[in-house]
Amino acid sequence: MNICRTKQQLRLAIRDAQKHQQTIGFVPTMGYLHEGHASLLREARSDNDVVVLSIFVNPMQFGPNEDLDRYPRDEERDLALAASCGVDIVFLPSVEEMYPKKPLTTIKVEEVTSRLCGASRPGHFDGVGLVVSKLFNIVQPQRAYFGMKDAQQVAVIEQMVQDLDMNVDIVHCPIIREPDGLALSSRNVYLSAKHRMEATTLSKSLNKLHHQLKDNNKMTSDECVAFITNEIITNTSGEIDYVELLHYPSLTAVQDRLSIAESFENQRFIVAVAVKFGTTRLIDNALFQVGEVIERV
Ligand code: PAJ
Repeated sequence: MNICRTKQQLRLAIRDAQKHQQTIGFVPTMGYLHEGHASLLREARSDNDVVVLSIFVNPMQFGPNEDLDRYPRDEERDLALAASCGVDIVFLPSVEEMYPKKPLTTIKVEEVTSRLCGASRPGHFDGVGLVVSKLFNIVQPQRAYFGMKDAQQVAVIEQMVQDLDMNVDIVHCPIIREPDGLALSSRNVYLSAKHRMEATTLSKSLNKLHHQLKDNNKMTSDECVAFITNEIITNTSGEIDYVELLHYPSLTAVQDRLSIAESFENQRFIVAVAVKFGTTRLIDNALFQVGEVIERV
């Protein structure tokens, strides 16, 4: 496995792959890798000649009161997991390497960033857009792999790629969960035992909603949101940041008086939640497709 700490080193490795007409699959991460990241790496491994993993805790996507300083890191363990997934090249730049000077260019994707994490973390997606654009320019992958755990991030990146004619296919990968349903996240290590138990309510409430929608596909958007909100309030001590039901991937509002099933045949919508347990903010979501019955996709 080739470990590159500078853009120069990485560009040389990429040039080599390009010279041999090899396809490049890219998985951008902030490290502290878990099975969610591993699933992206395995998918990239099966689709491409060369797999590039980046590990970079991007300061530009953290707000002033967020957890940049305590974001978990473990380079040694990350490299072992990367090797076990068949990664060819790891890009591990320092902050100075990625941002030698304060960047004066902004990437601002409008509309799809106006709700959910875009609303509660102002500037977050500008930072994501900037770093992902830089990484795409450095790595020049044919395919890049993103997890639906961060469904809004996928929508933002796809919009950016389309708007800027970036020559890369965005591959969506499903959410990987613990056996009890909790979506894997680097931040789960910060949950207390009590919060860890309560946190399963996020996925459980999404599952319960799915059952409700199968039985009663006339539920309104507001009723769905109220159902999830009530589950979280009843079963956890967490503080709700948002619970929303939106069209996906446009992330626009679903008219609340309309019955979801009849009005939106064949459309997809997302139910997304963010809850703070102490200082740890967790997100989860479920994607539904409207048809004869409402199916989870
Ligand atoms: P990070 O949170 O490290 O996530 C890297 C990738 O792993 C993202 O595409 C994310 O959706 C995916 N991922 C995380 N948990 C997952 C899970 N449980 N199941 C499936 N996929 C999962 O997302 C970022 O880093 C950053 O914003 C980044 C894109 C690297 C830009 O800095």
